[in-house]
Amino acid sequence: MADCTGDNGGDCGSCGLRSREWFEGQGNAPFNHRANLKAGGHLGEMFDGRPVIGIANSASDLVPCNSGLTDLAERAVRGVLEAGGFPLVFPTMSIGDSIMRPSGMMYRNLMSLELEELARANPVDGLVILTGCDNTAPAYAMGAASTGLPTMMIHAGPMLSGNWRARQMASGTDMYKLGDEARKGVLTPADLDDAEYGISRGTGTCNTMGTACTMGAVLESMGLSLMGTANIPAMDARKRAAAQQTGRRIVELVREGVGIADILTPAAFRNGVRTNAALGGGTNTTAHLLALAGRLGLEFSIDDIERYSREVPLLANVMPSGEYLMEDFYNAGGQAALMRSMGDLLDPDAPTVSGRTIGEEIASARVWDERVIRRRENPVSSAPALAILCGSLAPRGALIKATAADSRLLDHRGPAVVFDSIEDLDARLDSPDLEVDENSVLVLRGIGPTAYPGAPELGNFKIPRKLLDRGVTDLVRISDGRMSGTAFGAVVLQVTPEAGVGGPLALVRDGDIIHLDVANRRLDLEVDDEDLEARRRSWQPPEQQFDRGYRRLYVEHVMQADAGFDFDFLRGSSGAPRMKRRPY
Ligand code: FES
Repeated sequence: MADCTGDNGGDCGSCGLRSREWFEGQGNAPFNHRANLKAGGHLGEMFDGRPVIGIANSASDLVPCNSGLTDLAERAVRGVLEAGGFPLVFPTMSIGDSIMRPSGMMYRNLMSLELEELARANPVDGLVILTGCDNTAPAYAMGAASTGLPTMMIHAGPMLSGNWRARQMASGTDMYKLGDEARKGVLTPADLDDAEYGISRGTGTCNTMGTACTMGAVLESMGLSLMGTANIPAMDARKRAAAQQTGRRIVELVREGVGIADILTPAAFRNGVRTNAALGGGTNTTAHLLALAGRLGLEFSIDDIERYSREVPLLANVMPSGEYLMEDFYNAGGQAALMRSMGDLLDPDAPTVSGRTIGEEIASARVWDERVIRRRENPVSSAPALAILCGSLAPRGALIKATAADSRLLDHRGPAVVFDSIEDLDARLDSPDLEVDENSVLVLRGIGPTAYPGAPELGNFKIPRKLLDRGVTDLVRISDGRMSGTAFGAVVLQVTPEAGVGGPLALVRDGDIIHLDVANRRLDLEVDDEDLEARRRSWQPPEQQFDRGYRRLYVEHVMQADAGFDFDFLRGSSGAPRMKRRPY
């Protein structure tokens, strides 16, 4: 570092750093701040005005997807030191989506709040966020957005491709298939026990285009990571090199004064939505982008997502919408190659954390395997992967991943079979007495954000046993919950408003006719208005289940899917103002 004091417009890059508020000067407070951190063995030169980089680490034994992040944090530390910054790694809570109850989504806002407050309360000038499992990337991005600090993301990347008995195994996607084979008696419990190792072969996120890989890719397409790094497989040495490069670059980004809001612009959101569509990204992206935009104060709605996605063909031939796994996607050219294939669907001038535009970042990318990353003239599907529905059953929207559904069900009219809760579903779904056939429309309510709570990934519930035995593999299923990005089926999700707050889903009765019309983006309950009004008058809201703690805070403040399930009091940004010193 140069020995510039920063007081006269010097060029050392430390002018304006908020960490100087903690470390600069000779009073008791800066003495104490420096002395305290020197307990970590840091050299005195670390306090000379160099940028302090907080490296937020969401590694946890409870979240195997993120368990490799501590190694990446060490690589980022190297990079920060090489670039003349002062790296400080700090842990936060983490979210293991397939394990946490009642749902990972319920804890996303808490994790974002923790990052936001930790960053604001400490002498941090810039952030490296180490993410992985589904909700961790959006949680950190949202928290960072509310601080406004310069931020770069390192994503864990997908785990190795699954393999069991010479059969490719896809995270989540094959779990559902194995489960159906076991229900039909084709596989034994011992087979399933063995298959568990084959489907999850080590650290990293799900190896399909589930929510985790989608969010890594989408946030990268929005400029928040170095291009091409998010979906490097977790075990690949290039991931470590990427973390080191990120550590170097974040120091420069702080010196350049580029905050997260300078990267996550409206153009970045347009690119993110379109990339999500070309990837066949998970349905959870929608809520995460809406919540993130809300933190940044951007005008961005579910209608924008539909509008921007509509003309985008599916180009990534990756499960669950396609045939291959994330490792294949990376080897075929990965993110940059996919984005280059998108051509003029992207805004090339959107900025990225590298200092170059998206257009510059992808200019030399190539597709190495056109079976995996398709050309626009030969897409996996010319219809967009994701469709935003609206209609009398979903006045404020609902979603379907159309490319992961049986296409015969995308225009379907059928009688409702209604389940009031998960418990009701568990009790009756496989009953031989259940009145259901292949034309039925299964409705599950009571799994929305306030009701369950947290809108769990239960929307892709099983096919009733009696239909499974007859060879039925897909049915229209509708709920106010979500589904894993690895899941598939004619599954309509996030019906808004949810039944728990009196949305029309609460009023559906067995036998009512429901019409799903994906081409026209409609989801309608064909019951006359008078009848519906009478049902509405007799509807009773569910009793509040929680009288204390985070769950009470959650149900009292969570907003519906069209606001990204964020808390009402977390929308917007408080920035990262300088903190008052302690008066010693
Ligand atoms: Fe963590 Fe799928 S369970 S990424």
